[in-house]
Amino acid sequence: METDLTKIGMHKDQQYEVIITTIDKDGNSNAAPFGLRVLEENEVFLRIFEGGNTIKNIKDKGEFIVNITNDPLMFTLSTTNTIPDEYLTRIPNKSNTDELAYLTDAEAYFICEVKSIKEALREDDIKSSDVNFIKSEVVELNIKNKCVKPMNRAIHALIEALVNYSRINIVDDDTQKYFLERFLESERVIKRVGNEKEKESIQILKEDLINQGFEI
Ligand SMILES: Cc1cc2nc3c(=O)[nH]c(=O)nc-3n(C[C@H](O)[C@H](O)[C@H](O)COP(=O)(O)O)c2cc1C
Repeated sequence: METDLTKIGMHKDQQYEVIITTIDKDGNSNAAPFGLRVLEENEVFLRIFEGGNTIKNIKDKGEFIVNITNDPLMFTLSTTNTIPDEYLTRIPNKSNTDELAYLTDAEAYFICEVKSIKEALREDDIKSSDVNFIKSEVVELNIKNKCVKPMNRAIHALIEALVNYSRINIVDDDTQKYFLERFLESERVIKRVGNEKEKESIQILKEDLINQGFEI
């Protein structure tokens, strides 16, 4: 059984945005986006705030499916509500009598089994609330599109920063100030979830802006 996440371009210590699909105790499906960090080639980490359907189902069942997709509608539908059943394919769970579900059009999906859940009270930029730190093992990886590319926030942040950079000398002062604030936000995201090239890129941009006399 394939379980090596490097086969789908997911690498150790990197974070990706994925859609997690779960089934509740009554058989209802649920889908929601989450940031997922790769710990080892077959081990992943999630940080999920308490109160949602996904965390409840993960705690109840001890298993879930991670879907790799770049489909904007899947991200939007799963964020605003949940994805209707017709977008999902149900599969029997080989280790028990339960069902699992994956996004039918996902480029790849993998089945995870929970290894540990640690609960904590977390104060951060969002709010203070209970958060769950979940380590899970990949038990089955299915690649449906060989060109699968996991979603990462850093490249999007970098492209936005580059577009603003290319315009910064032709806009008015207020827009320049706005671009520089946006730049700092892009830098924050890239430092948190970017790879080495993305981090180097945003540093190059920052030094260039400083050399041009911008205070950043
Ligand atoms: C791209 C993206 C990434 C997200 N990552 C996380 C995350 O890592 N942890 C978390 O608790 N919520 C995260 N969220 C928010 C959850 O998806 C959101 O709370 C959702 O409503 C939970 O749905 P559920 O009740 O079906 O589980 C993320 C949202 C988006 C759009």
